[in-house]
Amino acid sequence: MTEAVRSESPLTGDVAPITDKIRVEGVSYRYRRRRREDVVALDDVDLTVGRGEFLSVVGPSGCGKSTLLRVLAGLQKPTDGVVRIHHQHRDRPLVAPVFQEYSIFPWHTVEANVRLGLDAAGVDRSEARRRAQEWIERVGLTGFEKALPGNLSGGMKQRVALARAFVVEPEILLMDEPFAALDAQLRKVLQEELLAIVREHNHTVFFVTHNLDEAILLSDRIALMSARPGRIRRIVDVPFARPRTAELRKDPEFSRLEEDLWADLKGDVEEVVQ
Ligand SMILES: Nc1ncnc2c1ncn2[C@@H]1O[C@H](COP(=O)(O)OP(=O)(O)O)[C@@H](O)[C@H]1O
Ligand SMILES: [Mg+2]
Repeated sequence: MTEAVRSESPLTGDVAPITDKIRVEGVSYRYRRRRREDVVALDDVDLTVGRGEFLSVVGPSGCGKSTLLRVLAGLQKPTDGVVRIHHQHRDRPLVAPVFQEYSIFPWHTVEANVRLGLDAAGVDRSEARRRAQEWIERVGLTGFEKALPGNLSGGMKQRVALARAFVVEPEILLMDEPFAALDAQLRKVLQEELLAIVREHNHTVFFVTHNLDEAILLSDRIALMSARPGRIRRIVDVPFARPRTAELRKDPEFSRLEEDLWADLKGDVEEVVQ
């Protein structure tokens, strides 16, 4: 990578013509700490995400998944390497993140939370209201428009966060363990909703999870990361056709893939635990 490119902002779409939506090239990230050793969270990561692709990243806790997501979001600048993102629609935001901890504002109503990105982008008030309403309905929150987050369950709060991300029609969704805080049943419901939404809208999704079942159900490809320093150790194609439903879990190939991935990850997870 030339110096000229490396010194570009990490979110440049026009450095070179690219067909991939996201290209991560030789990205390293080092957390510098005072009077303590630096933490090398990412070490020479190469990864591409195709246009309209759903890519999941799985790996043991602390392997750098969230760091990679924040680098893609432009929130952290890589210590080394470059991220190229192809920005096709200049009138739409490039990325919208959804985090595990329902990052919604407690003092805003459901509707205001969903509209936030649209208001910030200067979208006309009535248009913003209409689009917010559409997504509030889509995620099953009709009737809760004026509710404050404090009165909502975890699942509902995460639905607000999803609606808020989708309503701005981002080119790329960056999701960091969005369902990890939910109980198993609710998690399944939201996974299916996400499958349906992604089917309708053909988003490019970068999805972080440590749940293999979730990664297989949702993704086109799964990138396995190794324990610190985070590297991509293997990328697996998920061979199931779309549209998919939760029924896919009953396919023997599904459990075979899950076992295969687990066999690969297990060693790393045990190392982290010790
Ligand atoms: N702000 C920070 N300062 C120092 N170290 C950090 C910071 N944030 C994360 N780390 C470390 O970087 C590594 C990767 O963290 P993270 O990206 O959160 O991993 P994951 O999301 O896979 O659990 C971990 O060892 C973590 O402790
Ligand atoms: Mg994380």
